Parts: sequence; structure tokens; C-alpha cells
Amino acid sequence: MHVFVTGASGWIGSHTVDDLLAAGHTVTGLARSDASAAALQAKGAAVLRGDLDDLDTIRRGAAEAEGVLHLANKHDWANAAATNASERGAVEAIAEALVGSDRPFVLASGVAGLAQGRPSNESDPNPFVGPDSMRGGSENRGFDFVDQGVRTIAARFSPTTHGIGDHGFIKVIADAARERGVSGYVGEGTNSWAAVHVTDAARLVRLGLEQAPAGSRLHAVAETAIPTRAIAEAIGEGLGLPVTSIDPADAVAHFGFIGQFFGMEMSATSDETRKLLGWEPTGPGLLEDIAAGAYFDVRVA
Ligand SMILES: NC(=O)c1ccc[n+]([C@@H]2O[C@H](COP(=O)([O-])OP(=O)(O)OC[C@H]3O[C@@H](n4cnc5c(N)ncnc54)[C@H](OP(=O)(O)O)[C@@H]3O)[C@@H](O)[C@H]2O)c1
Repeated sequence: MHVFVTGASGWIGSHTVDDLLAAGHTVTGLARSDASAAALQAKGAAVLRGDLDDLDTIRRGAAEAEGVLHLANKHDWANAAATNASERGAVEAIAEALVGSDRPFVLASGVAGLAQGRPSNESDPNPFVGPDSMRGGSENRGFDFVDQGVRTIAARFSPTTHGIGDHGFIKVIADAARERGVSGYVGEGTNSWAAVHVTDAARLVRLGLEQAPAGSRLHAVAETAIPTRAIAEAIGEGLGLPVTSIDPADAVAHFGFIGQFFGMEMSATSDETRKLLGWEPTGPGLLEDIAAGAYFDVRVA
């Protein structure tokens, strides 16, 4: 299958491109810089130069492919409205280009806010609707096109899709620990996060593209619920720093933007995904990756 991938140079995207190419697919990756374009070409992928907001380019990439993976995101946490608007705009542009084709369209999503008081599962609908909601309501916007002949599939990633080279949430939390001289958790640290190794997430995205029916919600979740206090303890151990509770009211001041999320419950299961696609995660667990030093080059004490 010829696959158009946005975010092909990103953390999940680059591993997914590797997985797609190894499985015999061909890839065109969206690249906004010379460095991203060169990295893709070195792997044997074709490049479409453009920005996430160049909607004509995005439409062209989608129209010329047999399947689309949308993994780009601006992640500009200081300007969430613009990030969400770009996310929604790109999802609409891709879906419009695929109308009537029955081609697969896998879009990135998350597990935050799907359930209260229990781990979320694939049957939980995404409550975020409309441009002003989380991620611009992009999961539901993508599903709007299922009735118009688009095989839309949501890949809901664990809040930590981890591994060596990850620059996501755990890296930001580890950097905050290094800067503050303590490894913090929010409140009691009893809220939990789901986790998945990036190579397992990449394989799931590829299996979803190949096999998942329209309207599927896939959970890229290997570990259901890791208490955030255990994450802070592993980071403290790795950096040789004391571990301490941070008052929820001080979380953003202490951690930066990630303080909005570190105290949130983001546990999730993946039983339905495993049954649907025969996907079984095989990569190391999050605490194992932290202990192996995936998030820090130097101990500070
Ligand atoms: N990682 C996680 O744990 C996690 C958890 C839940 C959901 N997700 C979602 O999964 C998706 C992939 O995440 P990720 O961790 O792989 O993200 P990432 O490493 O930050 O990669 C983002 C990708 O988007 C591209 N990009 C950013 N701004 C762009 C723009 N203006 N125009 C074109 N391309 C642009 C980047 O290109 P450059 O290489 O040129 O910068 C990069 O390829 C995102 O939607 C993310 O929100 C991730």
C-alpha cells in the first residue's frame, strides 16, 4: 500500500515509517524542513514538502495515496487554540480528499478524559466535539466521514509512548526534576497513566491501517495503569534526586505545561484492540525504560 504520513519525522511517525517500510509498504512523508526531508529520503521514503496548514498540499498527499496516517501535531502548548485549529483543519482536509474511496485514514488521538474513575476502553466514545474542544475535536470530526466512504480509524496513544529518544511527556517531567532538584508527583500521586513502547505503537498503527474496520478506536496501550508516584520515584532513582509531592495548585508552576496533565487520570485498557488485530506488545515497560536511562544522560547527584 502507498501511504501518506504526516508527522513522518516525529517520534511515533519515524518509528511507524520504519515499520511500514519493513512490512513492504511505500511511504510519502510530509516534511516541513530540509532536515526532516533528508531523514525520510535516507530511509527510502518519498517526500512531500509542506506545512500542516498548507491544506492544498495535505489534500494532494492524501488523494495520491492508498492510505493516510495523520501523526503531525504542532504541540504548541502555549497556543493551544492554534494547535487545535491546525489539527482539526488537517483532519478535515485529509478526510475530504478520501471521500468515497473507502481508503484507510488513521488519525492520532489520546486517552485523556474518556472515562471517570476507571481505565478507559475502546467502547468509550470521545467526548470532545467541536473546534474548541481537546485536540480540536479531531477524533469525532474524522469519524464524521465514515458515512461518506472514508475508513477512519482513531489510534489513541497512551500518554507516554516511550523509548530511547522520546522527547515527550516523561522527558519533560524528567527535565523538570533536574531543574528543580526534586522529582515531583502531583498530590498523592495515585492517579495513573497508561504506557506503550514506541515500537509497539508503530506496529499497531500499521496493523490498524491494514486491517481495522471503519470507525475503530484502537488503544495503543501496553500497560494499563502506572501510578504517577511510581513514575516520579523511577525518575528520582535515575537522577539521584529526592521524590516529593507537589500541591496540585502549584503543579503548573513546578512542572510547566505538563503540570496540567501529570495529575490527571489517564489509565486505559487495550483488550478490544488486541482481540481485533491480534496485536501483542513486546517492548519494555515504562519503568524499565526509565531505569535503563532512556530519559537522562547524567545524574545530578
Ligand atoms: N508521544 C505520545 O506519547 C503521544 C501520546 C498521545 C497522543 N500523541 C499524538 O500522536 C501524534 C504523534 O505524536 P509524536 O509524539 O510522534 O509527536 P512529535 O514527535 O512531536 O512529532 C510531531 C510531528 O509533527 C510534525 N509537525 C509539527 N508541526 C508541524 C507543522 N507546522 N507542519 C508540518 N509538520 C509539523 C513534526 O515535524 P518536524 O520533524 O519537522 O518537527 C513531527 O514530524 C500527535 O498527534 C500526538 O499529539 C502522542
